Parts: sequence; C-alpha cells; structure tokens
Amino acid sequence: MAAVILWIPLLVGLSVGLGGTQAQQNPLHPLVGRVFVHTLDHATFLRLPEDTAVQPSTRITYHAHLQGHPDLPRWLRYTQRSPTQPGFLYGTATSEDRGRQVIEVTAYNRDTFATTQKRLVLLIGDPEGPRLPYQAEFLVRSHDVEEVLPSTPTSRFLTGLGGLWEPGELQVLNVTSALDCGGRVPLPIEGRKEGVYIKVGSATPFSTCLKMVASPDSHARCAQGQPPLLSCYDTLAPHFRVDWCNVSLVDKSVPAPADEVPTIGDGILEYDPFFCPPTEATARDFLEDALVTLLVPLLVALLLTLLLAYVMCCRREGRLKRDLATSDIQMVHHSTILQNTEELRQMAATREVPRPLSTLPMFNVRTGEGLPPRVDSAQVPLILDQP
Ligand SMILES: *[C@@H]1O[C@H](CO)[C@@H](O)[C@H](O)[C@H]1NC(C)=O
Ligand SMILES: *[C@@H]1O[C@H](CO)[C@@H](O)[C@H](O)[C@H]1NC(C)=O
Repeated sequence: MAAVILWIPLLVGLSVGLGGTQAQQNPLHPLVGRVFVHTLDHATFLRLPEDTAVQPSTRITYHAHLQGHPDLPRWLRYTQRSPTQPGFLYGTATSEDRGRQVIEVTAYNRDTFATTQKRLVLLIGDPEGPRLPYQAEFLVRSHDVEEVLPSTPTSRFLTGLGGLWEPGELQVLNVTSALDCGGRVPLPIEGRKEGVYIKVGSATPFSTCLKMVASPDSHARCAQGQPPLLSCYDTLAPHFRVDWCNVSLVDKSVPAPADEVPTIGDGILEYDPFFCPPTEATARDFLEDALVTLLVPLLVALLLTLLLAYVMCCRREGRLKRDLATSDIQMVHHSTILQNTEELRQMAATREVPRPLSTLPMFNVRTGEGLPPRVDSAQVPLILDQP
C-alpha cells in the first residue's frame, strides 16, 4: 500500500506535473473503424507489489476525460458496472479522430479516498490489411456491454459466428450497449440483461443463411411475431442469445452512389430556361393602412363615449319631473311618513327614561335591582328569588 500515491486535493494541481513520470506507459493504438477496448484495472491503479492480489472488495471508480477537455472524445465511451468491477473505455474511432489523443484517467479509491491519475496516450491510425466491406450488426440479448468487452467473450462470439459466415477473418467493428440505442433498462430480475449491439466486419461475403435472416420475408415474419427464417444451425446459441429479428447487414463492397463527393463549382448557377426569378417587390406605403387601423376604432370609441355621456348627463329624469308625474295622494302619503319618522327620531333623542329591565343583564324580580357583575357568570342563577 505504501506504493499507492495519495494525493490530497491541494496536490492535485501538482499531479499534472507528476503525471509526466507515469505517462511513460506505451501508447495504445486504436484503429479507425475497429473497436477499441481498454480495461481500467484496479491493480494498475493501486500499484500493488507484484505478489499482492487486489482485494475483491476494493472499490474504485474512474473518471476519464480528454486532456484539456471536460469529457471524453465523441467516439470513446466509459462504462463500469460497479465500483468493485473494472471499468472500460471502449468505442470505435472514425477517420476524423486520426492522430494523437491523450486521455486522463483519475481513479478514486472509495475506501481510502485516495486518488490516482494516469494518462493514456492513444495513437489512432488506419487499419492494415484488407477492407471489411461486409458488415453485420447483431443484437445480443443475453449480455450487458461490460460482459462482451473483455477479449475472451469477444473471441468466443467471433468463433461462434464463424460457423454462420463463409470462412474468413471476422473482426469486431463496434460494440454499443442497447441502452445507447434506445433500449430500456431491464427489470431487476435474474437473467435479464440490457443487451448489446455487436457489429462484425469481414472481407468475405455473407452466407446465404445470414442473407436469409436479414431478408424482407424474415422481417415480415418477425413483424407478425413469428421466428425469422434461420436456415442454419445457430452456432452462437449456448453462450449468446442473438435476436435474429434484429440482424442488419451492410454491404459496402460497391460504393453507394450517394457517397460521391459533390464537386465544388465557382458558385454561379448554370442557365436554366425554366427558372423564373421573383419580380422585384414595389415599395409600399403603409401609413394609410396604419391610420385607418388606429383611427377608426378610436373614432367609434369616442362616439360611444359621447353618446353615453349625453344619456347619463342630459337625459336624466329630474326630481321635479318625477314628483310632477306622481299622483297627489301618493305624495301626501309619502311626506307624512317622512314627517312622522322625523318626529319620532327627535322624541327618542330627548327622552330620559331608564332602560327597560329586560335589557339589563340580571335583575331582581321584585325590587328591579340589577346585580353587580360577578366573575363566574356560569354559577349565577338567571333569576334571583330573594325576599
Ligand atoms: C458505433 O455504433 C454506435 C451506435 O450504433 C454509433 O453511434 C457509432 O457511430 C458507431 N461507430 C462507428 C465508428 O460506426
Ligand atoms: C428489432 O427488430 C424489430 C423488427 O425489425 C424492431 O421492431 C425492433 O424495434 C428492433 N428492436 C431493437 C431493440 O432494435
């Protein structure tokens, strides 16, 4: 453990300088159009002495990014199933990625909180050997992507597939988790896997068997829920459950006409007798339209306001007019009521009589005396019967 380099956060800045000593690792050589897999092994990051085995419970997570950038290059993906399992950097470089790329990997030990940084130098180059124009993509439902990235399952897959293809060298071109292609995370039931797409290329043409599986007839059967036409023995079967409905074949032996590079001209269109250029638009004055749009509603609003004002102010029925229209007997009746009310009000204002007993809170029936208020009114009888 003494060999483990522990960097406290303050020293992380120094790590770039120190990293130079660790980058003495041999560069890796991913090839354009071929799958590249790099395993982030716990042992290489723990820097244990030769004879010490990594504890199976050691938890390490990784973060990888392109040097000077926050994330990985587009072609490279990172995956790790759990902190006790190794991580993988995998992907297929395209021709635009050719050249040197430096990936910085930081490992975090989840138990000791130590971090270790490592640099991977990738020299991406073109593959040698024959082109692989015949490419087939298979959806393997029985595996997660991490389970096919190590070399053993990959070569086993290729061996199994060799029984279905014409003899010839098969190479894995691309590996993608089905989750990255719109697949769903499976239910946490034993034996359910996410699925992985494996793209294999070869220089030898497809076998009749593969062609049949990918034929339109076969797809029609799949669409109806029937098994596809698999005319040969499924040599992948015991280890890999391939979804034979999702096999896609690409034949690049004849370059597609769409791939032609468009020739770049001088920018002047050729003369076309049917081309009719748009006539020049005449300048238009929109003032009139704007005035009509604004003034007409304003005018209407003004008219309505005036009308309303006239009705409210000038057409009011005056009190005099109303009184004149009312019969005399009604007017007399009305004014009598008003007078009487007024008189009653005046009388009430001047009277000096005590309040009626019934309005007092408590009173003696005989003497009519009120009681001084008591504290606990709940114990006071409503009517006092005193001699
Ligand atoms: C590999 O497969 C993924 C998913 O289908 C795709 O996005 C990517 O472009 C492929 N890479 C190459 C180099 O074809
Ligand atoms: C598999 O193929 C079927 C039929 O071609 C298609 O409907 C389905 O979406 C495919 N599934 C996946 C995961 O690609």
